[in-house]
Amino acid sequence: MRAAIAPVQIERNAPIPTWFGIGGRADRLARPQSAEELAACIESDSDLRILGDGANLLVDDPGVAELVVKLDAPCWKRVEIERDSGRVFASAGADLPRMILDTVRAGLSGLEGLGGVPASVGGALVMNAGGRFGEIGNVVSRVFGLDRTGAMVVRSRDEAAFAYRSSGLKDLIVTGVELSLTPADPAKVREHLLEVMDYKKKSQPMSARCAGCCFKNPTLTRDVAGVGERGQRVSAGMVIDRAGCKGLQVGGASVSERHANFLVTAPDARARDVIELMENVAARVQAEFGIVLEPEVVVWRRTP
Ligand code: EPU
Repeated sequence: MRAAIAPVQIERNAPIPTWFGIGGRADRLARPQSAEELAACIESDSDLRILGDGANLLVDDPGVAELVVKLDAPCWKRVEIERDSGRVFASAGADLPRMILDTVRAGLSGLEGLGGVPASVGGALVMNAGGRFGEIGNVVSRVFGLDRTGAMVVRSRDEAAFAYRSSGLKDLIVTGVELSLTPADPAKVREHLLEVMDYKKKSQPMSARCAGCCFKNPTLTRDVAGVGERGQRVSAGMVIDRAGCKGLQVGGASVSERHANFLVTAPDARARDVIELMENVAARVQAEFGIVLEPEVVVWRRTP
């Protein structure tokens, strides 16, 4: 029999806020206020799903049955910055953009390349958030978490196995991270952050309802004329654009005219519209170039 989790408040049929602004609900949602409450959540449902900032998440319309856990209590938002050593400790629920600003203000270099990436720290770690200006995995020393039995786990950067938009942390419930940043001239770090933000403002639909890039940038498995050589990682946005997908639409979901790897939603869109549009886009790119696109957006589906 499963243990009761009386001390943790459970909200029923709760909305799951995501950057798409659409999608299904959680049958049960918990906001643990302490490590003990998080442990109780794991005990009650070891299949629980952690909701970060919802910046890279699509929840299919029927919602999810597993316990959804949001780490937004004050104890999950701690960030401690040691200017002299460059050591930063952050809890999993801390806001990544806020932490980037705080470290840049403190004159620490290492996170400014992630400017404009919306995420919780935990979510950013699990998917090794980043882009052409850097990835969070590059500055990680250690990751702290709990496994699905509730046991504490510490992983070094090597053990965390960061790779392009992925990590070996998917089995963990990440609770915090220690980063190693580099003391630098605050004005220079700030200038770099502004350059990164400016690049993204010009090339991406920053204010639209979307989850950033929907597909990972593919590595070519053979030479593709006019696109790149075998072994090269190319922009998914560029190939989606070249396949003529800009402006494609399914229901309330459409391919952004500004950056083709961004799918944007109207308020009345269904998650199903986004999923179908992703399938259409991937099919067109495969037909045009023989390139298989892999989703970057995480899709939560109700398991039977
Ligand atoms: N391009 C097009 N058409 C488009 C989009 C892009 O021709 O519709 C071309 C651009 O002109 C440029 C090239 O493709 O020459 C690369 O575009 P961009 O610099 O925007 O980079 P990206 O590879 O498409 C990656 C990350 C982004 C990150 C940017 C900048 C992935 C899947 N995407 O995009 O990350 O913001 O670099 O750092 O790795 C995300 O992961 O959600 C995301 C938005």
